[in-house]
Amino acid sequence: MTTPHNVVVIVGSLRKESFTLKIANALAKMAPDTLKLNVVTLHDLSFFNQDLEATPPADWLAFREKLQKSNAVLFVTPEYNRSIPGVLKNAIDVGSRPYGKSSFNGKPTGIVSNSPGPLGGVNAAKHLQNILPGISGQIMQQPEIYLTSVGDAFDDKGALVKEPLQKTLKQYVDAFAAFVEKQNK
Ligand SMILES: Cc1cc2nc3c(=O)[nH]c(=O)nc-3n(C[C@H](O)[C@H](O)[C@H](O)COP(=O)(O)O)c2cc1C
Repeated sequence: MTTPHNVVVIVGSLRKESFTLKIANALAKMAPDTLKLNVVTLHDLSFFNQDLEATPPADWLAFREKLQKSNAVLFVTPEYNRSIPGVLKNAIDVGSRPYGKSSFNGKPTGIVSNSPGPLGGVNAAKHLQNILPGISGQIMQQPEIYLTSVGDAFDDKGALVKEPLQKTLKQYVDAFAAFVEKQNK
């Protein structure tokens, strides 16, 4: 078997019982053998501060290194106030620097938004599509995925039990695997 492509999965919520985190974990479980999903939360990433660019904190360097060593990046995010959560924007700012040396550069990129509400976090996904192109690799365009009504999708152990959502996520992660394969050729 060939070595799987490493994917950094960036989780846009810090909440302990986060649906976003549960979705990221579900994707990691159902990914095909060609992908290895490494779910990364942002609890330990300090605020970006341009004054520190000459002597970056260890947590920034560790985060950037994770990205640099990966073959792809997958953003899994909720929507906060019709955009992405601040912690996720901070991670993008940290990863995008130093200027011209973004650690996201060239990495095939996927975007998965979700909400317990009816709009699936589509605005968060669209905002990511706006801000990433200058600092990332190619963003997968199809299939689009905005997961609605995720509030009743998990059991009390955090396992994904909603069948239509299982099917949607599986289709997405398989398509992403094919996209990553193609981009890494
Ligand atoms: C500050 C804040 C703003 C929010 N804004 C939105 C929003 O614009 N659209 C939406 O669908 N849900 C919004 N929500 C509800 C979140 O979708 C919900 O809290 C969700 O569970 C957060 O994701 P998580 O479960 O991964 O933590 C907001 C929640 C918070 C705390």
